[in-house]
Amino acid sequence: MFSRAKTPKRLGSTMQAKLPISIIKYLYTKIIHNIESSPQENLTSLKDEHKELVRSGICILPNYFSKEIAHKMYSHFKELSFIPTPEMRHGKDNPLGDKCYDKADEIELFKEFFFDPKLISLIKSYIPKETILHKALAREKSSTSPVDSFENFIHFDSYKKRLKVFMLLTDVEEQNAPTSYLIGSHKLGIWRLRHEFEMFCLYKKDDNQYASDQESAYLGCYWPHESKNLSEKYKFRQLTCVGSAGTVIVFDGQGLHVANQLFSGSRAVLVGHWIQRNHHM
Ligand SMILES: [Fe+2]
Repeated sequence: MFSRAKTPKRLGSTMQAKLPISIIKYLYTKIIHNIESSPQENLTSLKDEHKELVRSGICILPNYFSKEIAHKMYSHFKELSFIPTPEMRHGKDNPLGDKCYDKADEIELFKEFFFDPKLISLIKSYIPKETILHKALAREKSSTSPVDSFENFIHFDSYKKRLKVFMLLTDVEEQNAPTSYLIGSHKLGIWRLRHEFEMFCLYKKDDNQYASDQESAYLGCYWPHESKNLSEKYKFRQLTCVGSAGTVIVFDGQGLHVANQLFSGSRAVLVGHWIQRNHHM
């Protein structure tokens, strides 16, 4: 895998000289993290969802919250002062076509989602050690133009466990930019190690913990033909996460997923990123 012929070309010559040490560091980090964050089913009452999460990398809890709660949250959501998502901040026609609000967990009305005891128990059963809410976002997509983002390619977010927990505030159908996930792709596999190693060596983050540049943002991405070949070889079935307002979607960002384009309406969600403390990247 890390033979000279297959050494990632993006690694510079200095880094290539240090390759053996870097590989050991990466593998050590990966193995320790996996041991420390082994799933513990006994920590949650949502046993079926826990099993599904471990097996598939994703579970959907349809209508977990009522439509009334989702609508109430959405009414408040619309009053927020959003900023463009990182991908939309560079001279786009409609920078607020994909927008976010940071620290959404500080809004009283949204705490019912971000700190729901059962959901937290599910999260902790999957990431048992030093589990923290790393990011809490309110996010809306309303531009039907293609968005210039790594999210539009099949990608993984991280080489460490990162649970992304979405609450749909509006109904999301195929045309409303649902996330798609390749079931089972969160598991350790030879196919992902080169990408993970590149991410380990090259990923840079800014002060807000986002990828600091395009090079970093795209490190987890696969070309369309690569993801097609992987899906065929490993029989990854694609799940498109549609659902009614109030539905909760939980997935491991180590698995392959993609943001689908918005073709009509808008998509409003609350999103929590849960990680083991100090294990963002
Ligand atoms: Fe992602």
